[in-house]
Amino acid sequence: MTTLYLCGAGNSEGVRLAQVINQKQGRWDRLILLDDDAAKHGRSILGVEVAGPFAMLAQASADWAEVINLVARTTAKRWAAHCKMEEYGLSFAALISPSVDTAGVEFGKDIIVYQNATVGPEVSLGDGSVIFMGAAVGHESQLGRCCVLAPNAVVNARVRLGDGVYVGTNATILPEVKVGPWATIAAGSVATRDVPPGATVMGVPGKIVMTLNLKLKLDGFETLPSGLRREMESHVS
Ligand SMILES: CC(C)(COP(=O)(O)OP(=O)(O)OC[C@H]1O[C@@H](n2cnc3c(N)ncnc32)[C@H](O)[C@@H]1OP(=O)(O)O)[C@@H](O)C(=O)NCCC(=O)NCCS
Repeated sequence: MTTLYLCGAGNSEGVRLAQVINQKQGRWDRLILLDDDAAKHGRSILGVEVAGPFAMLAQASADWAEVINLVARTTAKRWAAHCKMEEYGLSFAALISPSVDTAGVEFGKDIIVYQNATVGPEVSLGDGSVIFMGAAVGHESQLGRCCVLAPNAVVNARVRLGDGVYVGTNATILPEVKVGPWATIAAGSVATRDVPPGATVMGVPGKIVMTLNLKLKLDGFETLPSGLRREMESHVS
């Protein structure tokens, strides 16, 4: 029985997209939700039960199971979930809304593109990236791994996003701007010039309100997996 494991039960939009794709394309016999928060086990989202923790992937086989990462609250959490899922050796699915034109787009694995998104030709989307509803990626842009474009974010043409970049709702990145890994463009902001790694840019025009150095000192950083901490620290100049 072919199965799609949806990892992360905090995102009912992702469950709905998987169901829409399955109704149209009949790709899986069943959908199963997993989450490492035990409080969510036994609950259902759109009729799909949260069956248990990510560790249940150990019982699945690459012959009949695929996985997709629904975690998108922060790019660090998304990255951590992606790495955890990778350990089980299953294939990542891609959830691309059937309404989105993807001609000339290069996809990594574990990609989600929601309805009403626009992805231009000659765009490349790194492993684990997510394009939410109404977001747009202009032609020849490149997204690194585990980037998240929130609803209605606009990434103009020939923009380069490093790994783990988060672009908030209604934010805009002007053409040819380069955004360093782990940077955040705040909701409603406009990035008019290059953004250093890990910086948070806010306002119109966007100004740097937080640096990677400061972020790494904030509470919560210590709880990130050590591999991810090292990866982020490697970008401190
Ligand atoms: C940039 C961001 C990550 C900062 O989060 P944070 O560090 O928790 O910041 P806070 O909420 O503590 O706000 C800090 C200050 O910035 C202001 N602020 C926060 N976000 C802002 C924004 N997008 N634009 C302008 N000002 C903003 C707050 O009003 C606050 O101001 P104050 O100190 O004068 O009270 C967050 O505000 C943001 O924009 N996230 C994107 C959310 C989103 O698009 N989600 C999509 C879900 S699919």
